[in-house]
Amino acid sequence: MPSEQPSASPDWSAARARMILDPTVTMLNTGSFGPLPQPVFDRVTAIRHCLAAGPTDFYVRQAPPLLWEARERIATFLGTTPQRFVFTTNVSAAINLVASGLRLNSGGEILMTDHEYGCMAWCWDRVGQRQALSVRTFPLPTMASDPNEIVEAMCRAITPRTRVLFFSHVLSPTGLVLPAKELCAEARKRGVPTVVDGAHAAAMLPLNVDSIGADFYTGNLHKWLLAPSGAGFLVIGRGNEDRLQPLHVSWGYHADKYPIGEITKSEGPDARDNYGSTPRIRFLEFEGTRDFCPWLAVPAAIDFQTELGWNAVRNRIAELATYTRKVIGDIGLSLATPAAPGMHGAMTAFNLPTTVNTARLRKELWDRRIEIPVIERTHPDRLLLRVSHHFYTTEAEIDVLANELPTCLQAARSGGIITSNGG
Ligand SMILES: Cc1ncc(COP(=O)(O)O)c(C=O)c1O
Repeated sequence: MPSEQPSASPDWSAARARMILDPTVTMLNTGSFGPLPQPVFDRVTAIRHCLAAGPTDFYVRQAPPLLWEARERIATFLGTTPQRFVFTTNVSAAINLVASGLRLNSGGEILMTDHEYGCMAWCWDRVGQRQALSVRTFPLPTMASDPNEIVEAMCRAITPRTRVLFFSHVLSPTGLVLPAKELCAEARKRGVPTVVDGAHAAAMLPLNVDSIGADFYTGNLHKWLLAPSGAGFLVIGRGNEDRLQPLHVSWGYHADKYPIGEITKSEGPDARDNYGSTPRIRFLEFEGTRDFCPWLAVPAAIDFQTELGWNAVRNRIAELATYTRKVIGDIGLSLATPAAPGMHGAMTAFNLPTTVNTARLRKELWDRRIEIPVIERTHPDRLLLRVSHHFYTTEAEIDVLANELPTCLQAARSGGIITSNGG
């Protein structure tokens, strides 16, 4: 395991060379899906080989200690304990687990910002329908110059009818970083439980989940940590240990009826079991036989960026944010992510005119092998271009975008109509 902070600044082009990246693509979309470092790919492939070669030996004997090791490593990395850490396939699964498993007092409302990730908002719409709650959004000051503006907006929006507050730690459309700790503290003062969508926060920010104080903190490891797809998580906040029901009923459901190996009841629900979990965690996490090799490769992903040095990685990301703001700003697009310290991370978004034909713009960009999301939001009506800049992003890639974008926008404004086959 590499030490936490090497002193010398890494050679970024050598670090990029260790990433599996298609050299023909200008990759500016880590925010949707992270690519893999070669050692992480090698590790998950080696684990999958063991599973393929001897599935019984793998599931019964080899995987449990690896699962516990992965749980300990990632829990420590995120500032929590393995006893609170539930692995999930992705953040959607974690949010669904909380939303479906949590009983809220009916007759009130679910409160969220007006910039939540679309299908996660749907997840809460369904909770509203099932539990007779309304869903209300409040407008987020997305270009705030101080995090307190966001806290004040939330405090104004919360009412005695609010049964739960849901918000993203880092907004998907713009990359704005919300003051999660302060929002959770204010909600707690008002007796409102918090569910945080930390899809982008793990590895992008120096995260200490326990100090944030959310009732339920969820996240992804396949984005900024560069772990394989299939790795997400839920951290159960203090006092919420027994509030959730699992989405899947499987062997973890009756750990009390089926004591596991050497674990006896007296050792309690948080004692490590013979499956790499604890009875309390397994109750929520175990969904039957499945490929959890991505979870077991998480330590390799932590090691990869630890070796580069987290301060160095985050300084490099900050340098690229400054470069992106300048170069894309110079072609005339206005910034949609605050430049104020602490309010942005590894994604920088720009406003596009809402008259642009989005399908055409996406096609023009991809015709030039530029991988970048064009994000449409309604309520409020916004069209955004979001640049992701991880340590392996190069200034040359941002330059490619800046050089090609005016022509792409021109084409998307004038010859707007495209046919269904994209032509
Ligand atoms: C804020 C936010 N929440 C949830 C998700 C869903 O992530 P996943 O598909 O990995 O579950 C995303 C994906 O980009 C996101 O940005």
